[in-house]
Amino acid sequence: MNILSPSILAADFTILGEQLRSVDRAGAEYIHIDVMDGIFVPSISYGMPVIRSIRKATDKVFDVHLMIEKPERYIEAFADCGADIITFHLEATDRVAAVIEDIHRRGLKAGLAIKPGTSVESFRPYLDVADMFLVMTVEPGFGGQVYMDACTEKVRAARAMAEESGRSIDIQVDGGINRENIGTVLKAGANVIALGSAIFEGDIEDNVRHFLNILSR
Ligand code: DX5
Ligand code: ZN
Repeated sequence: MNILSPSILAADFTILGEQLRSVDRAGAEYIHIDVMDGIFVPSISYGMPVIRSIRKATDKVFDVHLMIEKPERYIEAFADCGADIITFHLEATDRVAAVIEDIHRRGLKAGLAIKPGTSVESFRPYLDVADMFLVMTVEPGFGGQVYMDACTEKVRAARAMAEESGRSIDIQVDGGINRENIGTVLKAGANVIALGSAIFEGDIEDNVRHFLNILSR
């Protein structure tokens, strides 16, 4: 199933609750929440208090994307504040399997992310346990960047690997996806689409409906 995951990094934080309700009303399934620590990536975004607060604004699935060093330190905290899916970077820890296990123990789904420079083959050891693979299509750290064409092949390879496993593993793409290139990532095999600027610039509800329409084809 194809799923839309609007990233609130591109939202107007003075009216975040209102914008979340627009996204929700228009029918988006997930809310993508980018957590940055200023170490794994250069920027710092937001964390637990914000997530706990917006948990009251919507029942949608919170798809939390951790761009933080040593995510093992914070799984409990993000589970407690309302995450439904926790995705972390395999470059950020040497305890990947243990982190996935910890996420599962808390009844949540576990996603594994790679930066553009990391090989898709790094996913292979976790084919039996991960619920989702996130292929970054920009360097993580900022919204509004340009999609890296070289990543399309990685999406295709991740999908092929997921198929081989015989399990149902979601393939998420994140970064620089817009009205022009969404067809390319879908065709390559992505089924969870994170979108920041393309949702929050302009009319949010129209944008969500536009993309949901493409995803349902
Ligand atoms: C980038 C974040 C993305 C970002 C996407 O590090 O992980 O989720 O918000 O924003 P756009 O769609 O504007 O590239
Ligand atoms: Zn993200």
